[in-house]
Amino acid sequence: MINEKIKFRNAILSDAKHLSKIESNIFPLDKVNTNFQNEISKETKKVFICTYENIVKPKKNLLSFIKPDKSKANQEFNTEEIIIGYIKIWKVLEESHIEQIGVIEKFRGQGIGEKLLVLSLRYCWENNIKKILLECRKSNSSAIKLYKKYLFNIVSVRKNYYPLNNSREDAICFESVDISTDDYYKKFLIN
Ligand SMILES: CC(C)(COP(=O)(O)OP(=O)(O)OC[C@H]1O[C@@H](n2cnc3c(N)ncnc32)[C@H](O)[C@@H]1OP(=O)(O)O)[C@@H](O)C(=O)NCCC(=O)NCCS
Repeated sequence: MINEKIKFRNAILSDAKHLSKIESNIFPLDKVNTNFQNEISKETKKVFICTYENIVKPKKNLLSFIKPDKSKANQEFNTEEIIIGYIKIWKVLEESHIEQIGVIEKFRGQGIGEKLLVLSLRYCWENNIKKILLECRKSNSSAIKLYKKYLFNIVSVRKNYYPLNNSREDAICFESVDISTDDYYKKFLIN
């Protein structure tokens, strides 16, 4: 479950390098290589990230084996912020396209993907965007279940759209219901 070490925020330029690193881990089959610097700078794009506060052991001072420094006996551990998931959307007038949503494997199944989706749906709602589009691999049952939960409907299938090792896989194209209504907000986006 999401705990106090897990936070959500807008991506900033200095996150770009880290995002590139996790992109290839999250989407190993897609062979994508997004320029996150560009994406984060664009006015038509929006990237939300999820971070985890990681505990890092302090580096051992070699001299401490010879002459232990007692003042450092209770040295506090340092922390570093690592990016564990993100969602990237593209705004086109009254529509928006979810281009990528992903969570690194170790952190899946804890509600992070859903929270990232809700953050971007809420952002779209606040910006009067009515409809969200996206596509997803036919075999991606977790993502399909998530989209259906938020009332995305299948509108078409793109044959052989994605690379799949030495073959191809179909894409399922989804379209949301009108998310700009008060009912949708109350049901899905209020918390
Ligand atoms: C799809 C993905 C983003 C979901 O993120 P997540 O943090 O694991 O998902 P959550 O824990 O927030 O789960 C939210 C909902 O997603 C669906 N879901 C998530 N994992 C699932 C699983 N293993 N099986 C079935 N449904 C699942 C469920 O509807 C779940 O809601 P519920 O718990 O009320 O049933 C994640 O699996 C992922 O990063 N996959 C690899 C990248 C990818 O495929 N992205 C989508 C490209 S279209």
